[in-house]
Amino acid sequence: MSAAGPTVPRVSVVTGGALGIGGAVSRRLAGLGDLVILNDIDAAAAEKTAAEITESGGRVITVIGDVVEDRTVAALTEAVAVRGRVDVLVNNVGDFRPASRDFLHSRPDQWQRLYELNLLHVLKVTHALLPTMVEQRSGSIVNNSTVEAFRGIPANAAYSGYNAGVSAFTKSLAVETGQYGVRVNAIAPDLADTPQTPHDAMLRGRDPELLRSWIPLGRFGHVNDYASVVAFLASDEARFVTGHTVPVDGGTLAASGWYAREDRKGWTNMPNHP
Ligand SMILES: NC(=O)c1ccc[n+]([C@@H]2O[C@H](COP(=O)([O-])OP(=O)(O)OC[C@H]3O[C@@H](n4cnc5c(N)ncnc54)[C@H](O)[C@@H]3O)[C@@H](O)[C@H]2O)c1
Repeated sequence: MSAAGPTVPRVSVVTGGALGIGGAVSRRLAGLGDLVILNDIDAAAAEKTAAEITESGGRVITVIGDVVEDRTVAALTEAVAVRGRVDVLVNNVGDFRPASRDFLHSRPDQWQRLYELNLLHVLKVTHALLPTMVEQRSGSIVNNSTVEAFRGIPANAAYSGYNAGVSAFTKSLAVETGQYGVRVNAIAPDLADTPQTPHDAMLRGRDPELLRSWIPLGRFGHVNDYASVVAFLASDEARFVTGHTVPVDGGTLAASGWYAREDRKGWTNMPNHP
């Protein structure tokens, strides 16, 4: 018999934890035995994912609301306070919309929403939950950035800029919090088949055979491809990894290139444009 008592389950917060990559992360962490505090703006989707987790024997509670809003951040803080700890924080919410034709045609209200959705909530939620991690002298934060923090993406300059901010924040905060045993990392996805970027819509009108010239691993990412890297970074297996953004992209960052369209109507990174 082990001398150690029962292990305390990890408490893991996932923002945007209902659908897409966040949904897979919620299911994955719950499958590892964590109590998942699942935040999402979409109540119906959150309850559906929570029901799936519960039916599989996992533990989850939902915090419904826009993660940008202070009252949602307060509700997450309260949910953590009730449990007395937080071991993992996955700042997953992010979106390239509201989109515009190009930066010339974009508006300040669009930049503001892109800022809120991609960077501001990362600061807000981290600032709210970090004191508990510092107090307990442990914790792992995993942010969701994008490959476009590292390569240019025409028509999405503001989105790209804010996500570069996420990766820079990840590095700098990791330097600050290492002394408290708190690690901070990020993933940089590309081409995930999710409600935001569905495989079928992205491929419409294009020859699927050309995927290999576009994505070195020859396919779109399944949400579990991203969740497994998040789970690794959150785990003790990554105990000496902090301050990094790990691309999860099938190799597109290594191979990336944007090409001016032959019809001079902008840019594409797809190999079979008209
Ligand atoms: N899909 C990709 O190929 C791709 C590429 C690069 C980066 N990313 C990043 O990965 C993350 C997840 O992307 P995805 O494609 O899974 O997104 P998605 O839009 O498919 O799913 C996002 C989830 O977050 C929820 N959500 C949206 N806004 C919210 C808000 N304000 N407050 C709380 N919940 C909110 C949604 O309801 C949904 O459950 C984002 O940060 C995105 O920028 C995705």
